[in-house]
Amino acid sequence: MKAKTTPLLEVNALKKHFPLHGGLLGLRTGNVYAVDGVSFTIDRGETLSVVGESGCGKSTVGKAILRLFPITDGEVFLDGERIDNLPAGQLRPLRRRIQVVFQDPFSSLNPRQRVGDIIAEPIVNFGIASGSELEDRVAGLMDKVQLPRDAIHRFPHEFSGGQRQRIGIARALAPGADLIICDEAVSALDVSVKAQIVNLLSDLQDELGLALLFISHDLAIVEHLTHRVAVMYLGKIVELADRAALFATPHHPYTRALLSAVPVPDPTVQRQRIILRGDVPSPINPPSGCRFHTRCPFVFDRCRSEEPLLRDVGLGRRSACHLDVVPETAPTVAAA
Ligand SMILES: Nc1ncnc2c1ncn2[C@@H]1O[C@H](COP(=O)(O)OP(=O)(O)OP(=O)(O)O)[C@@H](O)[C@H]1O
Ligand code: SF4
Ligand SMILES: [Mg+2]
Repeated sequence: MKAKTTPLLEVNALKKHFPLHGGLLGLRTGNVYAVDGVSFTIDRGETLSVVGESGCGKSTVGKAILRLFPITDGEVFLDGERIDNLPAGQLRPLRRRIQVVFQDPFSSLNPRQRVGDIIAEPIVNFGIASGSELEDRVAGLMDKVQLPRDAIHRFPHEFSGGQRQRIGIARALAPGADLIICDEAVSALDVSVKAQIVNLLSDLQDELGLALLFISHDLAIVEHLTHRVAVMYLGKIVELADRAALFATPHHPYTRALLSAVPVPDPTVQRQRIILRGDVPSPINPPSGCRFHTRCPFVFDRCRSEEPLLRDVGLGRRSACHLDVVPETAPTVAAA
């Protein structure tokens, strides 16, 4: 029997509820159920994409792993070691091993620091190198992300969005991270620049064996980069599958609706568009039963009262829906 290897990252039943305060006294009036029981793993050298509409909790998952705030419940393990309950004073190794690249590198890059200093800072802070070794490392990182050498003396505002994102990626790589969380890292870029940065991340992953948690509201972006996809809706994962399986035969009705909006490059292939009714409900007061029931084209009585659990539906795919049908035999939806 094949020995089970420890995943690089394991997230187990993660919950993050933000307290809501109101009234003159600022008393607690409720919660924002931003992330409400999310579980997944990421192996070394693997990319897991987390996708879903705005507000479904994607960034909150990333921030919880980064320990930017305490979680409400659940567990997070890095290389088998629990990290969600580490005291603040013991977070340094974690900060070195898990890095983040945000959507807007301009606001996360110090405008008064030269590019060379921005990339050198984590190397110095973690005591990894100094002197000529530091200079060599910075130059090597700039080569890796394909920034011109003269960029070292320039400031972030002198660069385009794509180049600024390369600076952010070099800084994330600098301390020798195992896992990089890319939170909408290419969402603000032009289409061609998006593709360049996606290719760069893929190449770096192959070269360095990096794991990536790639957060995006856009399913189309992740298709060429990811190994597996977790689809989130209102604080929960509704489907988790290998890329090929998810794009070829999406199982969950929500995944099918999201995917139906993704353009198909082959003009001879037509995808039936599924238009979802209404907006995403509020995470302050999520719907009963299946959270997707207020918008699902296949809703039936049971969906309103009983929550479907994320369960194995074959071939390593997990889905949370009471309709246990393969997509080809699911009820048809009127084309938009
Ligand atoms: N610090 C906070 N305090 C209260 N509510 C918050 C906080 N951070 C996030 N939320 C709420 O939690 C929910 C999930 O937010 P989150 O930023 O994780 O969504 P997202 O999926 O990343 O959305 P987007 O695609 O717009 O970035 C939202 O309703 C958001 O308003
Ligand atoms: S459980 Fe019901 S409402 Fe939820 S996705 Fe499945 S069919 Fe739709
Ligand atoms: Mg976000």
